[in-house]
Amino acid sequence: FSVEYHDSIPSTNARARDLAGEGTSNVVVLADEQTGGRGRLDRDWHSPSGGVWLSVLFRPDVPMAHAPVFTLAAAVAVTRAAREAGVEAGIKWPNDVLVRHGDTERKLVGILTEMEGEADRVSWVVVGIGVNANVDPADLPDEANPTSLSAERGEPVDRRLFTQRLLEEFHALRQDPESVLDAWREYATTLGKQVRVETPSRTVEGEAVDIQFPGALVIETESGTEIVSAGDCEHLR
Ligand code: BTN
Repeated sequence: FSVEYHDSIPSTNARARDLAGEGTSNVVVLADEQTGGRGRLDRDWHSPSGGVWLSVLFRPDVPMAHAPVFTLAAAVAVTRAAREAGVEAGIKWPNDVLVRHGDTERKLVGILTEMEGEADRVSWVVVGIGVNANVDPADLPDEANPTSLSAERGEPVDRRLFTQRLLEEFHALRQDPESVLDAWREYATTLGKQVRVETPSRTVEGEAVDIQFPGALVIETESGTEIVSAGDCEHLR
């Protein structure tokens, strides 16, 4: 893998997508600051200097249907790196990395995966990972209920070391997709909880009991078992 570093760039995901279009692979695009960071559902992603804003571009030889597992792998990798840095992060389905404070969960990381396929096989994947590393949560928008590594630790994190650990973990998991789900279960805060998942077509409420390859949530509802592959998940209790 080669690393492309920018002090400031609009969006590492946009840059990685451009590189994908040029036929490049196996690149990590890294920035200290993003001026036009993008989040899920077309939201803005606030990315001041001091964060870890990066995108990994690779070309896995897998069916499109398996691609969600790479997003889970990113969540696991960043959770491990955060824990090594002394921050007890957990994962809310599918890929929110959070830190619990009493009854509330604060968001530490955002992950945005983009991809393109041909004939149902993946041709490239860009996994964008945004970690509020050495950032003051007061400088981030409130809606996300944000926290940061430095706020949790009470001191800054070594961003170089953190990024290195994160990428090492991600590459190991990426090569062994079967191991991702077990690792994910280990850090999941969603399993065993009552949840409400809003999908574009329906709302499913019940107990989250397991996750299934490549990333669907299994929910026991009053009327039976439901399997949800995407949606906004709320922990009820
Ligand atoms: C979310 O909405 O939770 C996902 C946020 C993803 C942010 C990261 S930061 C690095 C990469 N570049 C972007 O523009 N977005 C992703």
